[in-house]
Amino acid sequence: MVRKYLSVLASMAMAAAAGAQTAEVVVNADQGRDVISRHIYGQFSEHLGRCIYDGLYVGEDSKIPNTKGVRNDVIDALRNIKIPNLRWPGGCFADEYHWMDGIGPKESRAKMVNTHWGGVVEDNSFGTHEFLDMCELLGTEPYICGNVGSGTVEEMSKWVEYMTMDGESPMANLRRSNGREKPWNVKFIAVGNENWGCGGNMFPDVYANHYRRYQTFCRDYGDNHLYKVAGGANVDDYNWTETLMRMIPARMMWGISLHYYVHPGGWDRKGSSTEFDDAEYAVSMKKAMRMDELVTRHSTIIDKYDPDKRVALVVDEWGAWYNSLPGTNPGFLYQQNTLRDALIAGVTLNIFHKHCDRVRMANLAQIVNVLQALILTEGEKMILTPTYHIFDMYKVHHDATMLPTEVRCGTYKAGSTTIDQMSVSSSVDADGVMHISMVNMDLDKDIEVRCSIRGRKATKIAGAQIVTSARINDYNSFDEPEVIDLKAFDGARLKDNVVTLRLPAKSVVTVAVK
Ligand code: AHR
Repeated sequence: MVRKYLSVLASMAMAAAAGAQTAEVVVNADQGRDVISRHIYGQFSEHLGRCIYDGLYVGEDSKIPNTKGVRNDVIDALRNIKIPNLRWPGGCFADEYHWMDGIGPKESRAKMVNTHWGGVVEDNSFGTHEFLDMCELLGTEPYICGNVGSGTVEEMSKWVEYMTMDGESPMANLRRSNGREKPWNVKFIAVGNENWGCGGNMFPDVYANHYRRYQTFCRDYGDNHLYKVAGGANVDDYNWTETLMRMIPARMMWGISLHYYVHPGGWDRKGSSTEFDDAEYAVSMKKAMRMDELVTRHSTIIDKYDPDKRVALVVDEWGAWYNSLPGTNPGFLYQQNTLRDALIAGVTLNIFHKHCDRVRMANLAQIVNVLQALILTEGEKMILTPTYHIFDMYKVHHDATMLPTEVRCGTYKAGSTTIDQMSVSSSVDADGVMHISMVNMDLDKDIEVRCSIRGRKATKIAGAQIVTSARINDYNSFDEPEVIDLKAFDGARLKDNVVTLRLPAKSVVTVAVK
């Protein structure tokens, strides 16, 4: 025993001498209970900047190869990461969107001004049919966000009828006259967005009343069962969550949402997406890890009213929000995506895994060309961001059983900010393969990781992948699209039920263990 302890101390001293740190991880392989819903890998698409137009949709007449107007390159990339659900049409845009403007012949669709996002003209050429057909192409569940702020109960109710009613009805017939015989499956529906702010500046009790009324008229037609989401809190507005939970019974809502963005320089200054120093990087990661505290505290309130955990916490907007790239329309929220964003994605998804008993859905903001996007486009060109590669690496966790995982690691300090060096999560899939995802947030030091698998016999390493790069502010550009890519990692070893690896500085690694 003493000898074993001394040998651990000796290996830690050797690692330190070699410029590396050490970390002890324990995966409790016999304690899996809760499933990591694949829906925490959801995405968000808003009529904002070049997310819909240019990003997803170019129209059927475009010379960019497309299917029903949706870019083929984007379809292929998104199918690869199996996006489980897609939120639309906003965001703030949703509470001024009138769905009837977006159906029927395109030439006669009403135009509107997108007042939230750059004041541009929205010609409504991408509407309900285009969105729901695109979801079918992508193999993803639609997540519709209805208009409470400037809409009516009747408008939302008819939208649900239009999309999901199979038999004879005024809205089903209208849908048929617009070319779609069968209804679509629509699973998720949000009753408004940010109704404490852009969605109407309401008090929580006022919104709770609205929610109860609007959701009443969002009907289930035929086999279609709606999962209704109440518009939840901004960041740490615990009073909002408390009020909604007190006033809305669990039988009226499948979920309650939460929005949280990482702004390294604060809401006013935000910070650059590519030019930041180590201190600003550390602040970004500290803010990303704050998601743990937010989810914990909102969940504690929800637990009080819903101890059986029927109501999901739906983090339907999250990600890093920096200054728009110089020279672009500031209202379009177009930013670059560096290795820092990959680390933010890894850390945040690890937090969602840890809380998967309550967090059963989440949506990265946003899917293409806006904020922490998976994909950037420029004319015919398309690039995958470092964040995309994390979603690719982490897809092994979709619907897998979370394995409680402990980590003991050192800290990283830059400027006046100190953060943990590591974030880890693990799961076991339906075939019994365990996946251990680790983020090394230290910009300078590798970590010698000893990861004990307890409660189950591990027989072999079944592969590993890594996302990293030479500098934390490296990114993929249209000229150099593969600076950061998902690569095989062959540094993991298994002996005596312990996985060992040297986890490179500023990297995300997932190891598969059988
Ligand atoms: O994602 C951009 C905006 O951020 C959304 O429209 C809004 O809901 C949030 O404030």
